[in-house]
Amino acid sequence: MKKLLIANFKMNENPSETKLYFTKFVAGFSGERADVIICPSYVSLPLASFLTANSAVKLGAQNVSDEDAGAFTGEVSAKMLKSVGAEYVIVGHSERRNKFKESDKLINKKIKTSLKAGLKCILCVGEGALDKNVGKSQEVIRKQLEEGLRGLYENELESVVIAYEPTWAIGTGNNASVKEVEQAAKVIRKVVYENFSEKASRDIQVIYGGSLNERNAPALLNTPGIDGGLFGGISLDYSAFLNIANSIK
Ligand code: PGA
Repeated sequence: MKKLLIANFKMNENPSETKLYFTKFVAGFSGERADVIICPSYVSLPLASFLTANSAVKLGAQNVSDEDAGAFTGEVSAKMLKSVGAEYVIVGHSERRNKFKESDKLINKKIKTSLKAGLKCILCVGEGALDKNVGKSQEVIRKQLEEGLRGLYENELESVVIAYEPTWAIGTGNNASVKEVEQAAKVIRKVVYENFSEKASRDIQVIYGGSLNERNAPALLNTPGIDGGLFGGISLDYSAFLNIANSIK
């Protein structure tokens, strides 16, 4: 199966920079070795959608409202995201959990609202440095998963990707080891097994994110139980990300 590679631009790249990026990326992407989802800023989605039409590159948003519509100043709904070409949305990213104080309950509501609108979800889970140091990594992953996926029907998991993103590895240059990623993938699949089924635990896509780069991606993305990667910083370098997308095995 092809690897799933997701680019998270975070709050970077204005529409004109995004235009340049997508034009070059789409022209160079072979689509033979990987499925690629790029998540630019909200304001660049319509343009990115235009530039990726008839290409293998898919689009995602970085956030979504937990509400369908109404008096929620500044929010963007799942339906709106779909209407401008997003197929996916990232939920539960540690930056949203930590800097914007998003709770597991809110994340769960965002997932349900998004799935109902036909958006697929990339649910990020992962422990912080403190949790890791006191041996609580598994406990944290389990809680975030169980609360994030609470009340979902098993067939809805086909539209959910789980990203293991330990907070201490994000933007630090300090990626998790293959052994740590393998262990986390096992825990994630075990929790899915216990809460859904054996089939769901086998079929669900589990990816890794945190300081991925051209050098460490091949080993980390080929960790047993791992189906791909979520790229932050390095994804802003279109040639590095393109190189990974065209060469990953
Ligand atoms: P990073 O970010 O690759 O810059 O560590 C990953 C992420 O936040 O998803």
